[in-house]
Amino acid sequence: MHLDRIGILTGGGDAPGLNAVIRAVVKSSVNAGIECVGLEDSFDGLIEPGRSRILTARDVTGILRIGGTILGTTNRGNPFAYPVATAGGIHDYSSLVIQTFKDMKLDALVVIGGDGTLAIAHEFWKRGIPIVGVPKTIDNDIPKTTNCFGFDTAVSFATDAIDRLHTTAESHHRIMVVEVMGRYAGWIALHAGVAGGADVVLIPEIPYDLEKVAAHLRARESWGARFSIVVVAEGAKPVGGSASIVAAARPGQAERLGGIGHSVAAALEEMTGKETRAVVLGHLQRGGAPTSFDRVLATRFGGKAVELVRSGEFGKMVALDPPKIVAVPLDDVVGRLKKVPLDYDLLRTARAVGASFGD
Ligand code: F6P
Repeated sequence: MHLDRIGILTGGGDAPGLNAVIRAVVKSSVNAGIECVGLEDSFDGLIEPGRSRILTARDVTGILRIGGTILGTTNRGNPFAYPVATAGGIHDYSSLVIQTFKDMKLDALVVIGGDGTLAIAHEFWKRGIPIVGVPKTIDNDIPKTTNCFGFDTAVSFATDAIDRLHTTAESHHRIMVVEVMGRYAGWIALHAGVAGGADVVLIPEIPYDLEKVAAHLRARESWGARFSIVVVAEGAKPVGGSASIVAAARPGQAERLGGIGHSVAAALEEMTGKETRAVVLGHLQRGGAPTSFDRVLATRFGGKAVELVRSGEFGKMVALDPPKIVAVPLDDVVGRLKKVPLDYDLLRTARAVGASFGD
């Protein structure tokens, strides 16, 4: 398939490795004689004039190891429901996006994003824009790919934080509660919890009972463990309850979660009588340099995305199906979430080595 120029954008929350994907896409397309246009702040780059620039190999040299995205991103920019300051509060800019794509003489669009951004990409693909998706989220909850880049970096960071909290927890004989990201899925909490040797791991997939958590912590005390580490995913919920929301959903924007770490810490202090502190890792998990695993995965995703574009395979997302990088239809991805399966061996093993999930 003959191509002159392709567009690339990053959408949703940032994740370490976005720049590595951009670099791989730009270098592999430029080396194949295809011009690459970077669109700024997700689909805003196709809504507002002057929000794009040609990316040369020189523009992407040295960005492999840098966190964030040189293109900018937003998780409020759904062109089908764009927040505006008028009555009704939203506007549909999708026709403008399609027109701008044509006016810019783009032959294809590489969209790097999470569930929300890939759903938008899917809608545009159905409306005729040749799209290839690249999955991105530290939460690792996109279906059909075993890993998203950024997840390994987030887990490494959270593990390091748990290691550091272990020594201070032990010195002060405290319970330390660590809140990690994980809106709908507990991948970060589970993996960092196991890697860091946490005593309790609370994830959205397993509603927890704090009485059971407190009993587990008291049992540790009874055999001489004078401190405990509790890892809680931001989206964890009690049995019969709901996730802790700090700001309601708005048009084009999901609700903001937060507060679970502090409320679990306060309750456990009350229930166990042990001094307890809470630490929220928050956006620190999304920052910093990607790990070598994430750099390699991001580079493989970027290279594969350009291969798909060049062979005219659109409406697909690149994915890791070890040991291969494959292409899966966006139809099979959009509107679904990859949660931690309840029969995952790591859940069984975590329990076997003494962790409680509060159930
Ligand atoms: O989707 C990734 C994620 O890190 C979630 O875990 C979290 O709820 C969300 O992004 C927070 O996004 P922001 O604060 O940037 O709106």
